[in-house]
This record gives sequence, C-alpha cells and structure tokens, in this order.
Amino acid sequence: MSRPSILVARAVFPETLDRLGQYFDVEANPDDTVWSKSQLIEKLQGKAGAFTAGSDRIDTDVLAACPQLKIVANMAVGFNNFDLDAMTAAGVLGTNAPDVLTETTADFGFALLMATARRVTESEHFLRAGKWTKWSYDMFAGAEVHGSTLGILGMGRIGQGIARRGAHGFGMNVIYHNRSQLSPDLEAACKARYVSKEELLKTADHLVLVLPYSASSHHAIGGAELALMKPTACLVNIARGGIVDDAALAVALRERRIAAAGLDVFEGEPTVYPDLLTVPNVVLTPHIASATVPTRRAMADLAADNLIGYLTQGKALTPLNPQVMAG
Ligand code: GLV
Repeated sequence: MSRPSILVARAVFPETLDRLGQYFDVEANPDDTVWSKSQLIEKLQGKAGAFTAGSDRIDTDVLAACPQLKIVANMAVGFNNFDLDAMTAAGVLGTNAPDVLTETTADFGFALLMATARRVTESEHFLRAGKWTKWSYDMFAGAEVHGSTLGILGMGRIGQGIARRGAHGFGMNVIYHNRSQLSPDLEAACKARYVSKEELLKTADHLVLVLPYSASSHHAIGGAELALMKPTACLVNIARGGIVDDAALAVALRERRIAAAGLDVFEGEPTVYPDLLTVPNVVLTPHIASATVPTRRAMADLAADNLIGYLTQGKALTPLNPQVMAG
C-alpha cells in the first residue's frame, strides 16, 4: 500500500522529519520559506496531511483547492490561522499543540512583565550606547512587581500559570477577567479573584493578555481600554497581535498614558507598527514565548503524533474539531 504524503510547511527539527518519514512521504521546507497562499496550495497538492506553524493560513480557498487534505496539525497552541468552521465543513481535522507549552509560556509572560516593569531593555540600550556616566537616585526607576496587583485577561492554562507565579512567587494580588469564571478550586490554586473587564483595566498595576484571538477579541485593548488603565500601569501581550490596537498603544506609550508595555506579538507580524519601534517604554520580542528547545521539541512531537495517529489509526491526540474524527 502506498504511504500517505504530507507537507511540513515550515522548517522543523531534523528528528521530527525523520520520525514523520517513517510513516509518510514527506515534502519539507528546509529553507523555511514563508509560502504565499498560492505556493501553499501548490505544495499541498496530493497531500493527506500538513504540519503547519501559525503563519500558514488554512482557509476556504486552500481547502477548496486541496480536496485530498485530511488533517492539518499546527505546531502552536493558538489556531487563529485555521478557519475551523470551513475545515469542519470540508471534513478536514485541525489539531493544535496545547499543554506542552503552558509552563514555558507562563515563564516568558513573567519574564516580559519583569523586563517591562523594571525597564530592562531600555536601561541596557542606555548602557550599550555609552551613556552611563554616573549613578543617580532615579535612574531607570520602574514599577514595583512584588505586592502589586496583577491583572490577567484570559484565564486559560497559561493565564493560570502566570497567576500562580504572581501570587505564590511575588505575593501579588491577582485579579482576572475571562469568558467564564474559574471553579472555586482553581481560583484558590491561583489565589485569583474574578472581576469585570472594567475593574481589571482600572485596578491592575500589570495587565497581562493571554486570551485567544478571534473576531470578538480583535482590539480588545484599544484607545478606550487604555484610557481606563492607571498611568503607572504596565501592559504585557503574549497572546496574539490584533488583540491590542498597536496604533492606539503607541500613542498611549508616547503620551505616558500608561507607563510601559511588553509585547511578544504584533498586528501584522513580523512587521511591527513603526511607532512602537521608536517609543522607549516598550519591550519588544519576536513571538518567542514558547521558545525553549525542550518545549519546541514537545510541540513538534505533539504535532507529529497528531499526524501519525490520525493518518494511520484515525485518532489524533488534540483535535480541535473532533466531530471530523468521529465521522
Ligand atoms: C504560539 O503563539 C502558540 O500559539 O503556540
């Protein structure tokens, strides 16, 4: 029997390709080119499966042009690159890579919070530029972290990981807003209190965004929301670009309507809204929250397991539209 063909749409660990090669005819992308939609469609011809990153959009055009496709496995927990309804209608399974990155991503959320509050990159640039000539009492004085109020918007697994770090490690007062309130047990584990979005915005000293991107979370933080925040507050986004209105944020930072921001994700990334590159009170990182080698390996392994499980036994570990698997 001939083996299924799959496409690995972005560069990945050689071990992952070797493992997939035990089950499939694999077309890889060793140069790590980010293909256009028409290139992706061309590469997907005759493929039963695809291993994707968040940059590969799977939409109605791709699905209509690739009728042999059965599964798309994302090496990411977020899956806003999938039109999941269209995939379900086309009978294509989508999978993501949850859980394996939770703690690593929460670590990074905290790292970005600390770097933002304590002005780590801004002060490093100052030092590297040879501007450090003397100590002074208020040089790079930042925001307090321990004992302050940590606000979390989006209280899934990663949000809870950040809450635990804040409450137990830094004695922070944790408040959160989410589509639904956590169970009393989970709230107790995170020492977190549910509040309205308005109270969250008005009260948080550090506001961390960890909610999924969708049409309903587009610009969840725009000019009006930023105006509710304290002028001393710091904003951290490790969720998705598009959740923050980057243009409104750049204005708020420049006019010091909030103190600082830490951003790992951007609207239209890898392009960054130009004004964000010129304001000093923002820490910018290139979408690396899950980037440790063990975690990236675990994400790649999970995406590979989903492809192998589904195309060889009809079962994936982390299906997003399990009705396709059942059908
Ligand atoms: C990264 O952003 C992910 O969704 O895994």
